[in-house]
Amino acid sequence: MNKAQWQNGLSGYDELRQRILAVLDGETDDIARMATLACEVHHADARVDWTGFYRAVSPNLLKIGPYQGGHGCLVIPFGKGVCGTAAQTGAAQIVPDVDAFPGHIACASSTRSELVLPVHDNAGDLIAVFDIDSDQPDAFTQEDADALQSILNEVFGA
Ligand code: SME
Repeated sequence: MNKAQWQNGLSGYDELRQRILAVLDGETDDIARMATLACEVHHADARVDWTGFYRAVSPNLLKIGPYQGGHGCLVIPFGKGVCGTAAQTGAAQIVPDVDAFPGHIACASSTRSELVLPVHDNAGDLIAVFDIDSDQPDAFTQEDADALQSILNEVFGA
């Protein structure tokens, strides 16, 4: 799947969503859900070089969860970097140039752009953030954010 396919009509996202929901049918364990999403998203698009979850493990702390790609930082405080900002604000972060994002945490020096989305459970509590990193600048769009957020909401909010 290439960027054009994800941007136009989101047909790639429909397939991705259906595959994820089929694999996770009846699964209620959040780690199993996260591992499946990280794997499916990571292998769905060549733009993606790191894909994974940081879990909210205490009121102000994120800890690494299931991921695909090179080593990720183990711990990120709320408010730090892109992931910590998404956790603190509860808002999606689309970052076209990580060097222009104050406090960006560079786990891999090759990362150029990122998309980080909040993950809420069915009570509306933040349980994690979903971090997608690309070695290409400006890799992600609002359409990517909306489509992936809707899959996350369906999987973890259900
Ligand atoms: N991108 C993150 C750090 C995590 S790694 O890139 C895997 C950030 O600045 O929040």
